[in-house]
Amino acid sequence: MSTKSPIRKIGVVGAGTMGHGIAQVFAQAGFEVCLQDVRTNALNRATSNITQSLDKLVAKDTLTAKDAELARLRLTTTTDLDALSDVNYVIEAIVENVTAKRDLFKTIDTLVAPDVILASNTSAIAINTLSSATTRQPYVLGMHFMNPVPLMPLVELIRGQATSVETVRLSIELIKIIGKTPVEAADRPGFIANRVLMPMINEAIYALMEEVGSAEAIDTVMKVGMNHPMGPLALADLIGLDVCLDIMRVLHEGFGNNKYQPCPLLCQMVEAGTLGRKTGSGFFKY
Ligand code: CAA
Repeated sequence: MSTKSPIRKIGVVGAGTMGHGIAQVFAQAGFEVCLQDVRTNALNRATSNITQSLDKLVAKDTLTAKDAELARLRLTTTTDLDALSDVNYVIEAIVENVTAKRDLFKTIDTLVAPDVILASNTSAIAINTLSSATTRQPYVLGMHFMNPVPLMPLVELIRGQATSVETVRLSIELIKIIGKTPVEAADRPGFIANRVLMPMINEAIYALMEEVGSAEAIDTVMKVGMNHPMGPLALADLIGLDVCLDIMRVLHEGFGNNKYQPCPLLCQMVEAGTLGRKTGSGFFKY
């Protein structure tokens, strides 16, 4: 970790797929990390997933066994939000629900020191909507990681209307310290990543629904024909179909344009609880 950074301890709220990945990469980079979630089972799963991921990185010689152990030691978990009162930077990665996120931002605003930055890993919700729940709008921004966080270098940084230049500067510095690549995006629905990615995934689901090709055929076209590392349907399964649907709804409502209408098959699969890898089946079986 850079000795120049004033940030020593990171609070991560939400121990799901993204939250525990974010906690892991900061712990690996030398920061103390406190990972909070209201669900004990989510914290247990997070700890076990982080251990597995660190073990994989050690097996591939990306990380030494000693550094993996140090990363584990830098990470604490808690169900108590008050445990975040001494952190220097907060990253929120809870469910993509505006009310839940605004409530959380309101609470954290009263908990941490007034100059602590509150970043949201939201995939698509407007940063202005979240920052207006706090009394520190200049200190709020979007910090959007990609899944799987330990492997994907990109982080989108989203400046809300009131986000200060200093908040963005410090956050860019932080992203570089953890070895990732920051890209700035405007506070528009879906930012850059999901504005471009999600309509492609949605279109792949339409192609499947309209029997243009099988799931295997659609994914093979994109992998072999376009050199994508995964096909769009396998990627939807990795992201989670519920998350894909939430993002399509944000695009649809945000732009008021029917080109973003979620595919009916996507809606049906989410209603049926077929959410991708996390439920054992989506467009493919796991
Ligand atoms: N931690 C550590 N290592 C991991 C890991 C993790 N979390 N996940 C996978 N690995 C390792 C695997 O063990 C494997 O190691 P070996 O090479 O030793 O076998 C290696 O990484 C490669 O994994 P796989 O063989 O399973 O598969 P792969 O070669 O296809 O690579 C991938 C996996 C990096 C995920 C690649 O498929 C990829 O880049 N896919 C696209 C991912 C993507 O687009 N992400 C963005 C999604 S959008 C988003 O996140 C934003 C949003 O808001 C929705």
